[in-house]
Amino acid sequence: MVIGRRAFLGGVVASGAMLATGAGIANPAGVRAAGKTTVTRYPLYLPPPIGLASSLTAAPSTVDLGGGNLSKAWAYNGFMPGPTFRARSGDTAQVVLRNQLSEETITHWHGMVVDHPNDGHPIYAIPPGGTYQYSFPIQQRAALNWYHPHPHMLTGKQVALGLAGAFIINDAEEDGLGLPGGGYEVPLIVRDASLDSLGNLQYKPRSGGFLGDTVLVNGTRDPYLEVDTALYRFRVLGGANARIFGLALSSGAPFTLIGNDGGLLASAAQITRIDIAPGERVDLLVDFRGMPVGTRVMLRDLRSGWNLLEFRVARQMNVSATVPTTLSTITPLGSSVRTRTFSFDGMSKINGLEYDVNRIDFEVPFGDTELWRFATNGNAPHPVHVHGASFQVVSRTGGRNRLFPWESGWKDTVLLEDRETVEILIRFGGYSGEYLLHCHKLEHEDMGMMSNFVVV
Ligand code: C2O
Ligand code: CU
Repeated sequence: MVIGRRAFLGGVVASGAMLATGAGIANPAGVRAAGKTTVTRYPLYLPPPIGLASSLTAAPSTVDLGGGNLSKAWAYNGFMPGPTFRARSGDTAQVVLRNQLSEETITHWHGMVVDHPNDGHPIYAIPPGGTYQYSFPIQQRAALNWYHPHPHMLTGKQVALGLAGAFIINDAEEDGLGLPGGGYEVPLIVRDASLDSLGNLQYKPRSGGFLGDTVLVNGTRDPYLEVDTALYRFRVLGGANARIFGLALSSGAPFTLIGNDGGLLASAAQITRIDIAPGERVDLLVDFRGMPVGTRVMLRDLRSGWNLLEFRVARQMNVSATVPTTLSTITPLGSSVRTRTFSFDGMSKINGLEYDVNRIDFEVPFGDTELWRFATNGNAPHPVHVHGASFQVVSRTGGRNRLFPWESGWKDTVLLEDRETVEILIRFGGYSGEYLLHCHKLEHEDMGMMSNFVVV
């Protein structure tokens, strides 16, 4: 079985290389391996599922980045990305985190509305050998959320070395749309990485943000995915420390954008390019129906010119699926009772202050709708993330000077570029307690571009 698969891979190398050359696309991994002009592609890895009552162990591990290229990494339960949680609204998660790293860690459930003790705040970091018991009900709409470490000043390192995974929530509203499921719903965690001369993951922090020279999709380098002539749903997570990806298809065909951080949008949008910053998610339909078997379509990053993932149309199928146009109802948060301004200063401060785990910077009354204004005086991009609630993006002035279709609906992370002011409406209706506001460029977060606040 294994031999057959290797032999098959060997057979497709040449055509894959011809395609890459024909399209004039420089592949950074190929360029790095001096003089190598062919790109060997590996099957896209799909992390295994994990139950909601599970233990999650963060430990040094060896992972296969593709084709038996073994690399040392830090991983949850030995998998990179970590196993995929899948829950339904109304379920309860009971997860024990076990720390087998050489340093402290704690896990944050990014996008999940949970109470303070379950939010992975850095004050709850556990030492090597320690455990942390999480227990929280899932009381929010369907969405792709994710989990990753959040220890003070160590988040960038731990994520870069491999610790992150998907947490998918489904609900009845989503069921009613008949979206592609099973093998036709594929999570894609897109990130860059840096490998040492032995191929092990390494972390080389830069104050402007870690940038790796190798792209990994679901932990696979130069991945391909065999697809049927069917409609697919791709759940894409910007899982890099700092890199922003400009997603597009080599065919020039649009994506059908149906959702983002906080779940389904009000209606679907056809869009040929989507920028996704660290922490952001997009929910995309891609239609391979009507494509002849043998067709190849590349998911590309228009910012770096990288090839991210090659789709290989491999099987003729007749799967009926419709692309719904009306998806959900997004009720506007309405008018705000107060405004707060946050200036993302330099690479390590919010409103002139570096993060202090013990300092509370502001209080937000439970249930009030507030307008938060994010501004910067340089050193962007800053992907701004808020714990404890989803928000609605209402405006962007300066810089790109507009909002994008993937910024409608509910968000928990919004990209702030130089010269931009971004306004959001936010209302904390889940829990009172202490939460975090921070830049999700993990090096900025680790240097102190983070703030504690309390919902009272
Ligand atoms: Cu994805 Cu405070 O983090
Ligand atoms: Cu930043």
